Amino acid sequence: MIYLDNAATSWPKPPETIEAMHAYLETVGGNPGRSGHRASVDAARALYEVREAVCTFFNSKDPMRVFFTHNGTHALNYVLMGMLKEGDQVLTTAIEHNAVMRPLRELEKRGVVIRTACCREDGTVDLDDFARKIASGITLSVVNHASNVLGTISPIGSIAELCRKHGVLLLVDSAQTAGSLPIDMQDMGIDLLACTGHKGLLGPPGTGCLVIGSHVDSTAIKPIIRGGTGSRSKEEYQPEDLPDKFESGTPNSVGLAGLLAGISWVTSRGVDIVRSHEVKLIARLIEGLQSIQDITVHGTRNPKESVAVVSFTCRGKTVSEIGLMLDERHGILCRVGLHCAPSAHKTAGTFPEGTVRLSPGCFTTLDEIDRTVDAVREASRS
Ligand SMILES: Cc1ncc(COP(=O)(O)O)c(C=O)c1O
Repeated sequence: MIYLDNAATSWPKPPETIEAMHAYLETVGGNPGRSGHRASVDAARALYEVREAVCTFFNSKDPMRVFFTHNGTHALNYVLMGMLKEGDQVLTTAIEHNAVMRPLRELEKRGVVIRTACCREDGTVDLDDFARKIASGITLSVVNHASNVLGTISPIGSIAELCRKHGVLLLVDSAQTAGSLPIDMQDMGIDLLACTGHKGLLGPPGTGCLVIGSHVDSTAIKPIIRGGTGSRSKEEYQPEDLPDKFESGTPNSVGLAGLLAGISWVTSRGVDIVRSHEVKLIARLIEGLQSIQDITVHGTRNPKESVAVVSFTCRGKTVSEIGLMLDERHGILCRVGLHCAPSAHKTAGTFPEGTVRLSPGCFTTLDEIDRTVDAVREASRS
C-alpha cells in the first residue's frame, strides 16, 4: 500500500506516538485537574507538558493560552463562533476549507458580513485585493496557511503586516502546515493559530489545539462549550481563567500524550528536514505527472511555494475513475473530489468535479512517488 492521503490525516504515525498512548493508558489514567490524588495530578502534569511543547513549537509566549480541541475544525469554530457577532466584518480568502466557510456562512445568517480576498487560479492570495478589503472595518481575518486542494502556501508574513496596520486580528488555519512548515507565531505576527494534531504533528485523530497570542484579549472570545473544568466548582458560571474557560469536560489525555510524542518526533527530526524531504517528493511528483499527456496539474506547480499536496485532473477520465484504479490496481490511496473546499475548486476552475489529490508525508519515499507516477500514467491510458 502507498498512502498518499496525509492531507486528510497522516499515516503511519511514528512508533513513539503509539507507545506514548499505550504508556499513558497503562501508567497515568487519572482525570487531569479533577482530583487531588496522584493519578489525577500526574495526568494534569502530563497535560501541562503538552501545552508547553505546543507553545514552544509555535513560539508563542504563554502555555496557559494553548487550548486543546478535538481537531482543527473545533479550534477554528472556537474563534469564529466565539468572537464574531452581528455587524462584524470578517475577511477571508477564496481558498478556505469548509472548517472556515461553514461557520462563516452560519454567522452570515446572524448578521456577520463576509469579505473574501480574491486568489489566482493557482491558489495564491491577491495581496492587493486583501489590502483593499482589509481597510473597510474588519474585525477578524481568517486565512488558510496552505490550501488543502492546491498546496499553495499563503504569504502569512505580508498578510499579518496588513492586519497589524489596520488593527485586525489574524487567525491562521494551519491544518496543512503545522509540522511541515516552520511556524513562529511571534515572528510571523499570528494572533490566533488553529491546528490539527493528527496531520503534520503526527498525533492521533481526535487531537488539535488553538493557540491564542499573549496580547490577544481572551475575554473577546466566548466559549462555545461550557461545563465542568475541575476548577471553581461552586460556581455555575463558566470561569474566565485560562485555559479552563475553553476546556470544559474531560480532555483526550491519551490522544494528547500521543500528540506530545508526535511533536517531539518532528522537533527532533527538524521541521526544516521534514520540509526539504517533502519538497523533493513533490518536485518529483509534479515533474512526473506533468510528463503524462492527458494530465493537468493544478496549483503553482512550484514545490517551493507549495506544501505536500498535489492535485491533478485527467482528460477523458473522471477523478473517481482514476482514484479507483489507483486504489484497486496499485494499492495507492489518495482522495478525489472537492476535499471539503468548494471555494478553492471554484478558484482553481475544477468545480464541481474536483481533482485527484496526492498528499505524501514525511515517511513517503521517492520510490513510492515514482511508482505512483507510473500508476497514474497507466490509469490515464486505460
Ligand atoms: C485547510 C484545512 N483546514 C481545516 C481542516 C479541518 O481539520 P480537522 O480535520 O482536523 O478538523 C482541514 C482538514 O483537512 C484542512 O485541510
